[in-house]
Amino acid sequence: MKLFLDTAVYEEIKQGVDWGVVDGVTTNPTLIAKAGHEHEDQVKRICQIIGNVSAEVVSEKRDDMIAEGRRIASWHKNVIVKVPMTPDGIAAGKALAVEGIRVNVTLCFSVNQALLAAAIGAYIVSPFAGRLDDINEDGMRVVADIVSAYRQQGIKTKVLAASIRTPIHVTQAALAGADIATMPFAILKQLFNHPLTEAGQKRFLEDYQRAKAERDTARAGSDGQSKTGRAPETKPTEAPTAKR
Ligand code: G3P
Repeated sequence: MKLFLDTAVYEEIKQGVDWGVVDGVTTNPTLIAKAGHEHEDQVKRICQIIGNVSAEVVSEKRDDMIAEGRRIASWHKNVIVKVPMTPDGIAAGKALAVEGIRVNVTLCFSVNQALLAAAIGAYIVSPFAGRLDDINEDGMRVVADIVSAYRQQGIKTKVLAASIRTPIHVTQAALAGADIATMPFAILKQLFNHPLTEAGQKRFLEDYQRAKAERDTARAGSDGQSKTGRAPETKPTEAPTAKR
């Protein structure tokens, strides 16, 4: 499962790329507004450092979405055009997909909606797990069901688990067979954490420093003895080399 960042903040994306763990980015109008930059400028900037950057249309009618989707796709080859799971969004997505533009159908909440996304040849479908949990449904169950339906039907559209709210969601998405999970930067950082890793690394470094200090002390003692003319008390014995 690929890990994407669900953010439009350049510095967060740069950090994820520098760690070498992030394969893409999903943005939406809310995230672009939060980042506080002009849509086109920010998407182009993000595309300089990573592939697979979803950028969403904000038009509402099919023809407007098609025109906007074409424009967004022209910004950079790494762009994937996001369209909403509405009749106009799906119809626009179909027209864009036919033109060879990679389409991400967003705001998906059911297997049937995911089948509609597959029917237009969408590159990605984005089920929103967290928002389903918010209304007392099991978001990850829906993700797993979409994956299962796609596998049974031989559908190639990638399942991107979105609206990820906790590290457990990431594990569940992987176990559900999702192709991609997109998450806020704070969740990505949490994936590194385990108390045993922190304790183990602390112990390794302490043991290394203690052993080094002991060696340094022993060496200093042996140097002091050779200056006084006395032979060092201990010296490592070298194994004899066999003569051939
Ligand atoms: O990728 C979709 C995501 O941005 C929605 O997340 O937490 O607003 O439901 P959330």
